[in-house]
Amino acid sequence: MKLFIDTANLDEIGAAAKLGVIHGVTTNPTLISRERGDFAAIIREITSLVDGPVFAEVLAEDADGMVREGLELAAIHENVCVKIPMTPAGLEAISRLSKEGVKTACTLVFSAAQALLAANAGARYVAPFVGRADDIGWDGIEALSAIADVLSDGDFDTEVIAASVRSPLHVVEAARAGADIATVPPKVLAQMASHPLTDAGLERFRRDWALKKD
Ligand code: E4P
Repeated sequence: MKLFIDTANLDEIGAAAKLGVIHGVTTNPTLISRERGDFAAIIREITSLVDGPVFAEVLAEDADGMVREGLELAAIHENVCVKIPMTPAGLEAISRLSKEGVKTACTLVFSAAQALLAANAGARYVAPFVGRADDIGWDGIEALSAIADVLSDGDFDTEVIAASVRSPLHVVEAARAGADIATVPPKVLAQMASHPLTDAGLERFRRDWALKKD
């Protein structure tokens, strides 16, 4: 399972890119709203930091508006993937954009039924929100597992990207549930790298090395 980073902050993306473990970037209107500057300029800058898909979300609520915004976003860079919410208008926009060769990601997906609709419309990615499902007492990983299962028959070239990831455990469970990608906030990426026994082991190696006989 590949890892993407879930932020629009250029410093966080640059730092994660240096580690060599990030294969793409997801943004959403909330994440973009926290950054200064023009939306298109931020997305363009992100494409220069990571050589992989960069997800940029439309704001329109009607299909014509989504298609118009989607074409503008896709024109920023060939790696831009247009994120479109899971609504009837969104399905129409996904269908129209995919027929024009624009890569789309269907976002705010919570059920296998929604994922099947998105795949049939031509979405390149579907993004189940694991954490937000957990927040209201549903099992986000169980929904992700059902989505990966119903899309596994090879009928569609649609990848499952686990979103709304809140912990390293979510990442591991997403991989075991069959996600193709997990998009991970910088904080969770740091938590994934950390283990108390790694720290203790390193400290012991250093201490023992300092006592080395000549
Ligand atoms: C990514 O594509 C999603 O927009 C993001 O993972 C949502 O995460 P949140 O539920 O933590 O806001």
